[in-house]
Amino acid sequence: MKTELLLLGATLLCAAAKPLSKAAQRNKLLLVSFDGFRWDYDQDVDTPHLDQLLQDGVKAKYLTPPMLTMTSPSHFTTITGRWVEDHEVVHNMMFNAQTNQKVPHKQTLTRSEWWDNGVQPLWITAQNQGLKTASFYFPGGGANYSGQVVNRVVLEESGYPDDNETEWQQNIDQVMSWFSDEDFHLVTLYYGEPDNVGHAKGPDHPDRKKIIRQIDRTIGYLREAILRHGLGDSLNVIITSDHGMTTVKKRPQVDEIVLNKYLNLIKLASFEILDYGGFGILTPRPGREQEVFNALSNAPNLTVYKKHELPESFHLAKSRRLPPIVVVGDLGFNLNSRFIVYVNKGDHGYHSGEMDMKTIFRAFGPDFRRNFLSEPFDSVHIYPLMCRVLQIQPAPHNGSLTVTEGMLLHSGGSQRSRLSVALLLSTLLFMFTEL
Ligand SMILES: *[C@@H]1O[C@H](CO)[C@@H](O)[C@H](O)[C@H]1NC(C)=O
Ligand SMILES: *[C@@H]1O[C@H](CO)[C@@H](O)[C@H](O)[C@H]1NC(C)=O
Ligand SMILES: *[C@@H]1O[C@H](CO)[C@@H](O)[C@H](O)[C@H]1NC(C)=O
Ligand SMILES: *[C@@H]1O[C@H](CO)[C@@H](O)[C@H](O)[C@H]1NC(C)=O
Ligand SMILES: [Zn+2]
Repeated sequence: MKTELLLLGATLLCAAAKPLSKAAQRNKLLLVSFDGFRWDYDQDVDTPHLDQLLQDGVKAKYLTPPMLTMTSPSHFTTITGRWVEDHEVVHNMMFNAQTNQKVPHKQTLTRSEWWDNGVQPLWITAQNQGLKTASFYFPGGGANYSGQVVNRVVLEESGYPDDNETEWQQNIDQVMSWFSDEDFHLVTLYYGEPDNVGHAKGPDHPDRKKIIRQIDRTIGYLREAILRHGLGDSLNVIITSDHGMTTVKKRPQVDEIVLNKYLNLIKLASFEILDYGGFGILTPRPGREQEVFNALSNAPNLTVYKKHELPESFHLAKSRRLPPIVVVGDLGFNLNSRFIVYVNKGDHGYHSGEMDMKTIFRAFGPDFRRNFLSEPFDSVHIYPLMCRVLQIQPAPHNGSLTVTEGMLLHSGGSQRSRLSVALLLSTLLFMFTEL
């Protein structure tokens, strides 16, 4: 009788231990970014799959990107949880104000010296804690960080069309097999749309609605692929973006900005990046800083800052890389240098407080609440949320888990393990009373 009871006790112990091993189970994470997805792009298009995501998960009313509302700076804040002045990826283009070197965006993606400034992105932090990570086209994924590379990297080819829906689906299948067949824990997946269409046609063009429908179908495809790969109860997904988009204001509606009208650029500045949307940088020639500042202070429809006087909320002033003068256009005003660049009908780079610069945040999966509408928050807070979901120790960062943890079903494993310990104790108690 005693042996039978002992056996029963042992069986019960195993049963009780089960939730413990479940608590130790680490769910996986897919971070998807659709470049330039303005917060309200889904509100004038039929998007059944995005709508379903709210039923099945979390939606933020909108997400505020960091200053600078540009692709590389913003993506790197998401993946590091650090402000731009800390991670120092202060532009899409790598530049050197001393040598006047400027490297185009796509080429900058593989230049480690632009990305590796002593701040550790999530991939590397996770790998150092035993996880397997991959980056599919994601900005920053192609660099070395203190000699460490992301376990698996697929780089975007320059000049390759990136709106092919068939390939979007193939990329999802590829990523799903990394999760299901090769046990990757974290994959970041990047899509270049709707940014391209937003720039080329403007956010109000019918083609922007068309690409949002394509993105919506792709999200439907993703959800189906998750189930097909048996990842429904082990994969969490965050869908977000880096900035919004606004219509570029043009004549005759407004007088476009041409900075050379207000200061002699060649005479007063030794380096500049202008003609790049709503954000510009200048290095004045020696002794000419005040002159440049005064000239631009008189120019309409823009705000000029001395770097060390940049508002604290921008989190840019500490940057070593930013040149001494920073210029931000009023919403929709592009900062043209010498002549008006008519290429883009939509643009970004403006103040992150402008609603047109706000972007999206969605999440679903085993660790996320369902039907949870979150208040707006800053994208810097995504990082500690991702660390919590992956159950890893974050690197130093500027986010706060208190902003985002309300989206989670359990605030970590602690609740579940407490439950398991209680179960275990009651089982032991039961055994001893029986004996
Ligand atoms: C990263 O480092 C490895 C070896 O140290 C090197 O082969 C590779 O070219 C580097 N990649 C980049 C993008 O710098
Ligand atoms: C899209 O990609 C698929 C698969 O690579 C290819 O077969 C197809 O021709 C592409 N379509 C277009 C319009 O480029
Ligand atoms: C641009 O600046 C001019 C001159 O200060 C001003 O009259 C105009 O209202 C501004 N335009 C916009 C759209 O803010
Ligand atoms: C951001 O985090 C880093 C690392 O902890 C810290 O050094 C820096 O002061 C923080 N920035 C702000 C504005 O708190
Ligand atoms: Zn972008």
